[in-house]
Amino acid sequence: MATPPFGCFDVIRVMAALRIRALSIAVMTSLGMAKGSYGFNMVAGVHDRHVEKVLVTGGAGFVGSHMCVALLEAGHEVAVIDSLENSSSVALDAVAEITGQRPVLVVGDCRHRSALDQVMSCMRPSVVLHFAGLKSVAESVVDPLRYYRHNFQTTAQLLAAMKRNEVFRIVFSSSATVYGDPEVLPVSETVQTQPANPYGATKLLVEQMIADVVRADSRWSAVLLRYFNPVGAHRSGLIGEDPTHPPANLMPYLLQVAVGRYDALPLCGTDYPTPDGTALRDYIHVMDLAEGHLAAMEYLQGASSGTYTFNLGTGRATSVLELIGVMREVTGLELPYVQHERRSGDVAALWADPSKAKRELGWVANRSLADMCRDGWAWQSKHPNGYCS
Ligand code: NAD
Ligand code: WQD
Repeated sequence: MATPPFGCFDVIRVMAALRIRALSIAVMTSLGMAKGSYGFNMVAGVHDRHVEKVLVTGGAGFVGSHMCVALLEAGHEVAVIDSLENSSSVALDAVAEITGQRPVLVVGDCRHRSALDQVMSCMRPSVVLHFAGLKSVAESVVDPLRYYRHNFQTTAQLLAAMKRNEVFRIVFSSSATVYGDPEVLPVSETVQTQPANPYGATKLLVEQMIADVVRADSRWSAVLLRYFNPVGAHRSGLIGEDPTHPPANLMPYLLQVAVGRYDALPLCGTDYPTPDGTALRDYIHVMDLAEGHLAAMEYLQGASSGTYTFNLGTGRATSVLELIGVMREVTGLELPYVQHERRSGDVAALWADPSKAKRELGWVANRSLADMCRDGWAWQSKHPNGYCS
């Protein structure tokens, strides 16, 4: 039997009554979203499913917004807490347009106890999907303290709030960057972790913090998902990746060359020991990634207390030149590139052994590289300037 729906207005009323400034912004934001449904109606045909009340931290961001679509389409109830420091609430308008349902948005920082307590006491989530954090490798090298402080505090406060509010299941967005430059490929979860940059070190630190919390109290269980290279967008093209400029990653840069914001892609490294000299990565469609989280949530429903780690990747290695080739076919555009020296800290090859996720979660990434390029292009061509356009 499904848990009863809760309404955004309930959250807003409590927040307003408590006169919390950060949250009052959320009230305004929510009221500004005055179209679509505010409730959590069951999606027809899913009444027999186990409906979860899901709190999504960082749910307005790239992966989080796609996650909201997957959750709502699966019939779950969703609330988002996001500081919007690297995202826009417009992403959640688009989520509402795609799904016909609007996740509650609480604009608040997970480093603040009051914001977390309010949303948790209102919603009483059954599980937390934890995306909130800083994610730029380059920034983390320049300002490591900011990264350690932010990513550590965000998760430490979140775990403490979960404990206070008796929420004991969490799925954490970790990264393949924790593997650094592994000696064995493809990488399985048992490979020695050796992050090569402060961002990766913060991901490993948070993984360890979660595992320690779970070990200390048998009511807890956690899934740590190590993403490889999430790219693409929802097939509608209504949501997608909207990076700060210039984009740090390959796919968003290439898409911005496609819409004419940049003349050419810098091709970083053409002398790697790979078949065509460019680096190999495991690109995964962001909707496959979101579906991996649904599988992880289901897994946690039946799992005994513990911390479970899974790679989310396709198991396929793709070179930079191959990706450019597929994107050219999809867009019909020339997509110029200029040879550039290797990017500092880049590894020649990194791709996943995703067999544990297949075996234990029953999940595999189904979408092809052409799907990733087509859907990424659907987003970028409709939004040449991201959510501003
Ligand atoms: P993103 O920056 O688009 O999304 C993160 C969201 O968290 C943003 O909306 C941001 O405003 C919010 N946020 C940041 N700190 C916050 C805080 N303290 N309180 C509340 N909200 C906060 O990033 P993304 O690409 O969607 O990544 C989501 C998660 O997945 C991150 O933890 C990232 O490290 C991890 N990850 C991403 C990738 C990738 O390539 N995109 C790969 C591996 C892991
Ligand atoms: C892919 C390839 C570049 C840009 C990063 C993070 C990792 C994870 C995923 C969060 C590399 C080349 C890139 C460009 C290029 N994020 N490239 N020109 O570095 O594998 O992984 O995102 O957890 O932690 O490090 O992805 O997309 O930046 O690069 O030639 O303009 O494309 O050298 O070989 P990366 P990427």
